[in-house]
Amino acid sequence: MLYSIQDATIAATYAMLSATALDLGTCWVGAFDDDKVREVVGASKDLVPVAVITIGYSAERPEITGRRKIEEMASIEVLEKPFPHKEVKKELKR
Ligand SMILES: Cc1cc2nc3c(=O)[nH]c(=O)nc-3n(C[C@H](O)[C@H](O)[C@H](O)COP(=O)(O)O)c2cc1C
Repeated sequence: MLYSIQDATIAATYAMLSATALDLGTCWVGAFDDDKVREVVGASKDLVPVAVITIGYSAERPEITGRRKIEEMASIEVLEKPFPHKEVKKELKR
């Protein structure tokens, strides 16, 4: 089960990146009624919905929000051992 969830989230993320490349907006929705989603898409009970991705033309273009530092999210070998990285001075662009 864990691998299938990982596969599904990778696929969903690539779908979002592809949509963004096409100038579309997306939103990952994780809070939904499993049975309702199955009913809407016609899925059987043995399929587990992992995420709903909304895709459409954005009515607005929100500001790019700040990002946490890599040290706060990644470690090497053991937790709390900072991930070695080089600072990349690159502006986030749309
Ligand atoms: C695991 C996960 C579950 C989410 N579930 C919902 C959701 O149920 N409803 C919703 O409106 N947005 C949901 N979102 C979308 C987040 O709110 C969205 O990523 C966020 O607004 C983006 O903010 P940022 O650009 O500052 O990172 C979810 C995002 C993630 C990663």
